[in-house]
Amino acid sequence: MSHRITKKAKLAAGIYDFSIEHSTLPNFAKPGQFLIIRIDEKGERIPLTIAGVSKNAVRIIVKCVGKSTYKLATLKENDEILEVIGPLGNPSEIDFYGKVCVVGGGVGIAPLMPIIKALKSTGNKITTIIGASTAEQLILLDEIGKMSDELIITTDDGSAGSKGLVTHRLEELLNKGCRFDRIWAIGPTIMMKFVSAIALREEIPCWVSLNPIMVDGTGMCGACRVEVGGEMKFACVDGPEFDGRFVNWNELIKRLHQYQEKEKLSLELFKK
Ligand code: FAD
Ligand code: NAD
Ligand code: FES
Repeated sequence: MSHRITKKAKLAAGIYDFSIEHSTLPNFAKPGQFLIIRIDEKGERIPLTIAGVSKNAVRIIVKCVGKSTYKLATLKENDEILEVIGPLGNPSEIDFYGKVCVVGGGVGIAPLMPIIKALKSTGNKITTIIGASTAEQLILLDEIGKMSDELIITTDDGSAGSKGLVTHRLEELLNKGCRFDRIWAIGPTIMMKFVSAIALREEIPCWVSLNPIMVDGTGMCGACRVEVGGEMKFACVDGPEFDGRFVNWNELIKRLHQYQEKEKLSLELFKK
């Protein structure tokens, strides 16, 4: 059964917010889980984190980076997506921790929304740091601002908030004497690696949502294997969230780039 796009909005250049009709997923999805879509018969399966749910629809926020995400961006309201499978993966470990610092980079800000909402509802005090390359690429400021006790904005070029990376802002807070009981970070892998290095130094548990290449999303193909604490894990069924302090980041980054040449070629052919 295919799924109708009920809403589509452009949040920034190359970043789209979709609501997709689904009869079961909205009832079961929890913060931190993801879904896999296949646009049409010829489409590849792409994993996307659930950014929210409403009565009959699930929300995803997508950045165009390659053939499938560009193709998705060409769809309009009322168009159909062939397959939307989920919820997949384990939910975030939502609990009362005390003071939580949430760090979002680029489109990684989107999947943090349900997590912040749930952490807030369990009584945590939330400091959110969000970063993007430029002011134009900053998304969801209002929604995130309303949910957080404190919101810190940073851009690589200083066009909004202060100039620098999210890790600079986190270091500033720690240098000022702020203490956090948990960190949650979602964004580019390199960002999550450096946030996790700070967490390791400061001995703060740090949840990150890993985004290795996935195929089936159900633990059968092994494509998403990652090393965490010296053990092999499958991000789709054991994660996607892990304590970033124990992730073998260099191996993950190497594996993420393994099909780069083929992905580039595929996008060039699609754009022709
Ligand atoms: P491809 O041709 O496959 O790749 C194009 C470029 O993107 C290449 O440089 C490649 O190295 C890079 N890339 C490919 N796959 C990934 C990946 N998994 N992570 C990082 N870079 C990748 N993206 C979103 O925009 N929003 C989300 O909410 C979101 N949630 C995700 C949740 C999970 C659990 C995972 C595993 C990934 C998530 N991603 C998300 C990333 C998204 O799945 C990829 O961007 C998408 O599959 C790329 O497909 P493509 O055909 O457009 O690009
Ligand atoms: P981007 O490359 O523009 O980076 C966004 C911000 O991350 C930067 O402004 C900066 O503050 C920070 N950052 C980047 N490199 C850093 C470094 N070396 N050290 C410290 N901070 C750094 O972001 P984008 O192009 O929007 O990409 C977002 C990424 O998030 C994609 O890789 C996407 O796959 C990932 N993502 C993951 C999930 C998930 O659930 N795991 C969901 C959505 C997106
Ligand atoms: Fe196949 Fe995780 S995607 S095992």
